[in-house]
Amino acid sequence: MKKLPLIMDCDPGLDDAIALLFALACPDEINILGITTVFGNGPASQTQANARRICELAGLTDLKVFGGCPRSFFMRNPTNDSTYMADIHGETGLGGCKLAVPTMPLGPQDSVRFIIDTLLNASEPVTLAPIGPLTNIACAFIMEPKIKTNVKEIVLMGGSMGLGNINPSAEYNFSCDPQAAYVVFTSGVPIVMMGLDVTRQIQTSEDWLQTLTKMGTPVAQAVVDMLSYFYRPNAILEPGVKGGVLHDPNVIGYLLKPELYKGRHVYVEIDVSPTIMAGRSTVDWYHKLGKEPNALVMNQVNAPGFFELLTERLSRYPNVRAQ
Ligand code: RIB
Ligand code: CA
Repeated sequence: MKKLPLIMDCDPGLDDAIALLFALACPDEINILGITTVFGNGPASQTQANARRICELAGLTDLKVFGGCPRSFFMRNPTNDSTYMADIHGETGLGGCKLAVPTMPLGPQDSVRFIIDTLLNASEPVTLAPIGPLTNIACAFIMEPKIKTNVKEIVLMGGSMGLGNINPSAEYNFSCDPQAAYVVFTSGVPIVMMGLDVTRQIQTSEDWLQTLTKMGTPVAQAVVDMLSYFYRPNAILEPGVKGGVLHDPNVIGYLLKPELYKGRHVYVEIDVSPTIMAGRSTVDWYHKLGKEPNALVMNQVNAPGFFELLTERLSRYPNVRAQ
């Protein structure tokens, strides 16, 4: 596999943290140009600090991490007036993990500026991997539309064909900023959409956490510390699941082994109405609308194959070298 130039845009968040560790364990396949952060599972001040905590945990303190948009275009960030994500990710955003306050520097620019500058100066097309609200990506496309030609594809976690999670209509990332999701899905840039229909199939278990405990490395133990939060007494999980769902790591699983996934090129429309439908992704799975497909929407994953890949990559720590 040719080394893939990648920008990860995230809101760590427990599953974001695993996605970051997954990607950082693959320096021969993925060249992380930068990690941009955004509000979402917590305020922007927390998500940028948590991204740096994860880089320090991985021993990769020379990576570039940037702070991003602190709120959505129009809507109030649901985390402002909802304990939804704090219930799932904990007040720290990383469950019960006690990673120290980070000391590695935060990048000098904001996330949007970094995305624009990196794409403007890219010598080859760059893949974007947004796994939180799409506010940074949308802002970058609005501020400097010509960067779109330097994006190879956007592989994102968000949306759903069926039920949402933050409410029956919408998935959390799209619900946080429906207008940003609308900008991305009308951008003309190739999109791979990892929605809830596929990500819900990737649920952790206490047995899998046992496997990690047996690895006996600091990273594996930190992952256990973080994800055990899903198994605390009276844990609040997403509706309809039994374990902690690893939504975001599916983006990295796809980048490393696309053959683990199955989906369809279809038309997707984002609802921006100020109603309960805000952020809803309508997926025209049977091509009823006669509109040009704008996304490859995944609906199947080889879950055992995914966990085999993730476990093997996590087992590579602490010997992962800086890029
Ligand atoms: O709906 C799941 C998404 O919302 C994931 O990205 C999770 O981290 C939260 O941000
Ligand atoms: Ca996320």
